[in-house]
Amino acid sequence: MIKVAIDGPSGAGKSTVSKAVAKKLGYVYVDTGAMYRAAALGCICGDVDIKKNPKAAAEMVSYMNIDIKYSEDGSQLIFLDRENVTDHIRTPEVSIGASDISKIPEVRLKLVEIQRRLGNLNNVIMDGRDIGTYVFPDADVKIFLTASPEERARRRQKELLEKGQSCSFEEVLEDMRYRDENDSTRAFAPLVPAEDSIRIETDGMSFEESVQKVLDTIKARLEEHVV
Ligand code: DC
Repeated sequence: MIKVAIDGPSGAGKSTVSKAVAKKLGYVYVDTGAMYRAAALGCICGDVDIKKNPKAAAEMVSYMNIDIKYSEDGSQLIFLDRENVTDHIRTPEVSIGASDISKIPEVRLKLVEIQRRLGNLNNVIMDGRDIGTYVFPDADVKIFLTASPEERARRRQKELLEKGQSCSFEEVLEDMRYRDENDSTRAFAPLVPAEDSIRIETDGMSFEESVQKVLDTIKARLEEHVV
């Protein structure tokens, strides 16, 4: 099975780009951030303060059933204890909770196991923070997709506004910086580019240009493997 790892910070466009590329290649797309988000949502709904009480959060997650399914049009759906929570995991509160919960090693181990199982079943494009470094260190292609914090905050604010959630640019930028710091300084499987990853900066690139660049990079790397 072919494994393509796409890692990078929040708001770099990983999910939208990866989804489009997976469709063009006929691979299964796995958004691993959605799993951390579902785990965080479960704790928030269960009134567990993830930051203050990581032990209770870890225990709660150990009982959760987190599952990925696909709708007829191929988009990813995320289920928490058999309930489809896809539309509830993109709020700023869940974003912060997901970043906090992703620091807890027991939570990561549980979710990584599910990710490895999915990756061994199909040709996949998997996006996250630690796919090329930890989940699949032997991935066929590793891409580190990034952009400046300002560019990422602008895109995220636009996305939130389109969903009817209004927030200031400064708020979004602050959230972004908080999550960047959290994600790249945690002890276990932090966000760092894999040594053998290809870095793609998407500042100033349109969505279509980013998709094309990622697609060309994957094809070139896979051809190198075959030769
Ligand atoms: O990609 P995202 O913004 O939906 O991810 C939400 C949070 O989950 C992010 O702050 C970091 C964490 N995460 C992680 O630690 N490892 C992954 N493979 C994916 C996401």
